[in-house]
Amino acid sequence: MKLGVCWYPEQWPEELWASDVARMTALGLSFVRIGEFAWSRIEPEPGRFEWAWLDRAIDLAHAAGLEVVIGTPTATPPKWLLDAHPEILPKGRDGQVRGFGSRRHYCFSSDVYLAQAKRITQAVADRFGRHPAIVAWQTDNEYGCHDTVVSTSDAAKAGFRRWLAGEYGEVAALNAAWGLSFWAQDYRSFDEVDAPFGTVTESHPAHRLAWQRYSSAMVERFNAAQVAILREASPARDILHNFMGLFTEFDHYAVGRQLDVATWDSYPIGFLGQGPFSAADKARYLRTGHPDLTAFHHSLYRSCGNGRWWVIEQQPGPVNWAAWNPAPAKGAVELWGWEAVAHGAERMSWFRWRQAPTGQEAMHAGLNRPDNQPAAAWPEVEALGKGLASLGNLPERGRADVALVFDYDSVWAVESQPQGRDESVLATAMAWHTAARRLGLSVDVVPPDADLSAYRLILLPAQVFLSPTAGARLANIGATLVAGARTGSKTRHFAIPDGLPPDGLRQLIDIRVARVESLPPGIRLPAGNGGQVTGWMEDVQPGPAVETRLALDDGRPLWLAEGRAHYLAGQVDDGLLRRVLADAATAAGLAPRDLGPDVRVERRGTLNFLFNYGPEPVPVDQALLIGHNPVPPAGVAIWKDPAA
Ligand code: GAL
Repeated sequence: MKLGVCWYPEQWPEELWASDVARMTALGLSFVRIGEFAWSRIEPEPGRFEWAWLDRAIDLAHAAGLEVVIGTPTATPPKWLLDAHPEILPKGRDGQVRGFGSRRHYCFSSDVYLAQAKRITQAVADRFGRHPAIVAWQTDNEYGCHDTVVSTSDAAKAGFRRWLAGEYGEVAALNAAWGLSFWAQDYRSFDEVDAPFGTVTESHPAHRLAWQRYSSAMVERFNAAQVAILREASPARDILHNFMGLFTEFDHYAVGRQLDVATWDSYPIGFLGQGPFSAADKARYLRTGHPDLTAFHHSLYRSCGNGRWWVIEQQPGPVNWAAWNPAPAKGAVELWGWEAVAHGAERMSWFRWRQAPTGQEAMHAGLNRPDNQPAAAWPEVEALGKGLASLGNLPERGRADVALVFDYDSVWAVESQPQGRDESVLATAMAWHTAARRLGLSVDVVPPDADLSAYRLILLPAQVFLSPTAGARLANIGATLVAGARTGSKTRHFAIPDGLPPDGLRQLIDIRVARVESLPPGIRLPAGNGGQVTGWMEDVQPGPAVETRLALDDGRPLWLAEGRAHYLAGQVDDGLLRRVLADAATAAGLAPRDLGPDVRVERRGTLNFLFNYGPEPVPVDQALLIGHNPVPPAGVAIWKDPAA
């Protein structure tokens, strides 16, 4: 795995650059990511380009032996462009224009901006596309960050109407599919359809879902335009985008298919406070991040990149953007590096080389302090590099035993009609991932159309859309399968399926969901042996071949099974979820064991990794290649299979 850093030469006096690159290589770094916000310095006035400074920075990095990943600067269009074309600016759900003065101030639906983005991408690609230092291109920066996928600009409304016409052909088909006779919402033409915001009470859920699908398609369109230019002007370089954590506003699999590599920006402590975790977990993992959040995203983005993925931004110390910004525990920066190694990342780079003294991110740590002295993360980056060197060539990561199906359409479906205020497909998927990982199982997070045939255990935590074709595919695989409540609960056009849920799944398990209820926080429905349901419960009618493994104390079936297929009719507590998954995993021929809350293990070929996210030391019964025994808090242990 190669290590690198995000470097912003345009933000520093040029006298520093030579020592910067020299110190990077001395630290063991081999690449920099640059340029993704530099538009106003590349093109200070319309059509007048200043390349010389960037030529010098790239040449300097190259001379020092550093590879360069360069970003297209389209996340920060300059002031002169917005002044000339204010219609580029996005509008919020409230219809208000979101102005210049931070970043991402553009609307994905704007053809004017698309043309400008192509123009600057072409210019940068023509300038550097064949430079020997350039190994990869990053398109834009963090699509959707700061809530920028959804815009309600005039361009977005016009684009949405065209998109609807493409989806439905005739407006009568739209009226029928959405059931718009309800509340007299029928349209006479696609031109009458507005954005689904600002209505008196909730807008139509199929309308909201369609708006999200359209908005996602606009992100795909924007990315595809840049990719086409870069492929042509910069052959044989990887093209990537930096995705985010806990972010579901567009279909990342679809954008990933356009790229060579999926990368993501990993801020374990920044995300902790925003994640779906209990207050106790937020306190316990304050300085390490949650034991599974990072791993979930590593697995997700490995799928998005079709096996190829990097961490392009890694947290080095306190960030600036969370509500509170604690510092990492000693060892945590190195631990996060090893977690990426274990999951098979090709590269990791830290954000950023040096903390900036000014601007919105002046309080964000870097590898260097603003006074250019090494910051706290420095020795841990050094240790990771030395550890990697000592391991030599790393074995392949390979496929996991468990596939956890996750898709964006299901997330949007539940957001469009949650039925219980705190329902979240992402939170459910993460809870199932945590349960499996705490059982020592390795998990791939995959899209519903992935090839699932080689997996022993398939998890569908909340697969809202499951067509009969998809169900038939699952039935043919013959793996053990556990599906959660809401599986197959809607048709593609967001109707309750004929014959009731679970659509698609009924081929595997003969059940029918007759009624659902959602429950406010704090309400618990007991289910024997200390198990309980919170948040969501379905009344399921089982067919004669279905076994009820566990029922609520009030008699309603909760855990149902038929052959290799299991169904969980409610949102169960973590302990019960582990019990169900352990049972299914054992039936699938795996060997689950409870590792407790803090310890996680991963395998990469013959290498075994143990991570200690908790506050207590953990003894290991192995001869270690890396780490200390017992493994200290925020520590890592690595050992080889005894037989290898
Ligand atoms: C990322 C972003 C970077 C920087 C960083 C700070 O979301 O891509 O540009 O803002 O966060 O943590």
